[in-house]
Amino acid sequence: MNILILGSGGREHALAWAVKQNPKCDRLIVAPGNAGIAQLAEVADINILDGASVVIFCEENAIDFVIIGPEAPLAAGVADATRAAGLLTFGPSAAAARLEASKGFTKEICDACGAPTAAYASFTEAAPAKAYVTAQGAPIVVKADGLAAGKGVIVALTEAEALAAIDDMFGGEFGAAGAEVVIEEFMTGEEASFFILTDGVSALPIGTAQDHKRVGDGDTGPNTGGMGAYSPAPVLTDEISARAMEEIVLPTIREMARRGTPYQGVLYAGLMIKDGQGRLVEYNARFGDPETQVLMMRLGAQALDLMLACAEGRLDQAQVNWANDHAITVVMAAKGYPGAYSKGSEIRGLDRLPADSRHMVFHAGTIEKDGAILASGGRVLNITARGDTLSDARNRAYAMIDHIRWPDGFCRSDIGWRAL
Ligand code: AMP
Ligand code: GLY
Repeated sequence: MNILILGSGGREHALAWAVKQNPKCDRLIVAPGNAGIAQLAEVADINILDGASVVIFCEENAIDFVIIGPEAPLAAGVADATRAAGLLTFGPSAAAARLEASKGFTKEICDACGAPTAAYASFTEAAPAKAYVTAQGAPIVVKADGLAAGKGVIVALTEAEALAAIDDMFGGEFGAAGAEVVIEEFMTGEEASFFILTDGVSALPIGTAQDHKRVGDGDTGPNTGGMGAYSPAPVLTDEISARAMEEIVLPTIREMARRGTPYQGVLYAGLMIKDGQGRLVEYNARFGDPETQVLMMRLGAQALDLMLACAEGRLDQAQVNWANDHAITVVMAAKGYPGAYSKGSEIRGLDRLPADSRHMVFHAGTIEKDGAILASGGRVLNITARGDTLSDARNRAYAMIDHIRWPDGFCRSDIGWRAL
């Protein structure tokens, strides 16, 4: 079958790597892709935010299956366009992707289906929002309702910080995403990510992971898109996962179907775990980045079969073949990230690294120029390894990093510390 994956990050490189190993995959195209992806698939330059362009490309290239990686094309309705054209598609409709694109909408769904989450209120004006903060006190969490590239959440430790965040959001710092503001109770506990495939009716958990959001060792410094991840997440025990399915995930899926907007794709539930129970922090309508890199390392070729079963509405017959393994990914970023950083520095030593079922360097932001690999983003490489234990996986990943020569890059040295 001919498969098109939309996206250009480490997530899409990992998806492409897993899909490519499956004998069902004849031709694999990734749009727009990156230099690492181009080593294993064809890449194509199309406007992935425009459903009509994607449909035309699929028709011209006899694509049988479309996998949508990032949230922006989902929110823009690309899955609606491809499904309307009769293309088998992995990824939710724009209406269902509101579970990520609107925090207020997600809260409303939680209310409607009784899913445990932080207490909250939503506002469209600053004055009542500020009065609410003053009444509740700090710490408190202020969120822009819409998509803000992961930057629209302010965990305010003081009331003054929360009030300033409200002014920033209503002042237009996040554009239209901040026209509505959700203010939430600050939850304590341990965070973990839970990934579930659903065809709108059936649901199948496909793994757990923990991300490292802060830029520096020991979870210090500013927030990032994620500096590393590992799977499984020990805090998400079988018991807590089962409870989260019953209390949060399945009620959400039923509520979305009841509203006539069934959710089909991967549902990424960010959970806060405390006293044996998970509460919902947020949903994402896509795979996590870099969590996908560790999930794909563990799932391998079966990831394609699972995504196909999801898109074809036969998840009730699908199952995951688990191995008793652990995977870790360490993000190498350009010095300066998540602040200002320069692009174009050369990365050497990649060609001598192993690339097999236990070791992969997924590219997140690279381009190739005259045979050299150059950094072209903030998060640039995901050094990913699998082992029988987490420390085995960790040692393999850091051993690979020792061979990479990139003076303009850095990574955290403590990925996995919480579980180790
Ligand atoms: P989100 O974009 O909703 O995932 O928020 C980004 C991060 O902010 C989360 O991963 C949490 O670490 C933190 N966060 C969000 N909401 C809350 C909350 N209600 N209580 C505590 N921390 C939160
Ligand atoms: N790693 C966090 C995310 O993908 O949203």
